Amino acid sequence: PANLPPLKAVAPFRIGSSVQALHLDEPGLAALLRRQISQLTPEWQMKMEYIVQPDGSFRFDAPDRIVAFAQANGMAVLGHVLVWYAQAPEAFERLDESRIGFEQAYRNYILAVAGRYRGKVVGWDVVNEAVAEDGDGWRQSLWSKRLGDFEHIALAYRTAREADPAATLLLNDYNLEYMPRKRATFLKLAERLLASGAPLTGIGTQMHVAADIRPGEITTMMKDLASLGLPIHLSELDVSLVRAQNKFLGRGELEQRQARTYGEAAEAFMALPERQRFAFTLWGLRDRDSWLKKENAADAPAPFDDAGRPKAGAAALVEAFRRG
Ligand code: G3I
Repeated sequence: PANLPPLKAVAPFRIGSSVQALHLDEPGLAALLRRQISQLTPEWQMKMEYIVQPDGSFRFDAPDRIVAFAQANGMAVLGHVLVWYAQAPEAFERLDESRIGFEQAYRNYILAVAGRYRGKVVGWDVVNEAVAEDGDGWRQSLWSKRLGDFEHIALAYRTAREADPAATLLLNDYNLEYMPRKRATFLKLAERLLASGAPLTGIGTQMHVAADIRPGEITTMMKDLASLGLPIHLSELDVSLVRAQNKFLGRGELEQRQARTYGEAAEAFMALPERQRFAFTLWGLRDRDSWLKKENAADAPAPFDDAGRPKAGAAALVEAFRRG
């Protein structure tokens, strides 16, 4: 599709993209981000895996670079992630201090990172992927073991709010479109946080989906999530061609379904009340930027091709945003 208007020009809410600091040196990507995007999510460099050094010290060069690029280009930044089961650095594992000592280190990390970006991020994925893989209960982690299944989560939100009085504090998770039971557990956790007075002020649904996802699943999920009443971040959208369950679909058919799936995601998000549309974020703007390429080089999950040209998925997004 030729001369498509930029996504951020037609969408009545922020359009996000994941980004890695090093890739900002690439003129093609920087130009595409400037044209299309109004919010950035550091793909991994605002996580503990990047920030916490083996000796327990913190490094911020890469996330600072992403924030500087965003500020120079009038883009918002979504802080991703303060607490995640998947990344407990050695420096924390090694802490065999009492619970008080561990809690202090946990709080200090959140205060240091959320404090550093106070006034520079529109929100934080304070806790990422807290619900168990099968949707039955919550995940165990170093954090849950040392500080309590629910308490470590509530403490993270309270501490993030202490560091940043204004940012939207989100709970982010995946497979909420594929697994109604996981979605129900996610909503119950959100409701329990709200009931406990934790400053949860948004929810994120990642939307790592396959091209053959059943039409309507995304729409059903969005309506269900909207019932909580909080702002919603469609936080990590990509539409895989190779993760399709149906192995009998040809590439052409998969590409058509991919475009339709991008369209349904955009339509479902557009159907939310304006105050519940936090942002709509793509996880990998061009195929080459996608984490899925590491898994299978034949995948082409993004809305733009490697040269930054819009694919059918981008056209479907524009079409849905325009219909507004
Ligand atoms: O580029 C560096 C390389 O220079 C270094 O030598 C190497 C060894 O440390 O690391 C490389 O960075 C890797 C980075 O991806 C860039 O490719 C990190 O190891 C690797 O951990 C990182 O993976 C990221 C992953 O989260 C874990 O943080 C992926 O990019 C990122 O797409 C993925 O994103 C997650 C979301 O945060 C949460 N939802 C699921 C989503 C996909 O897994």
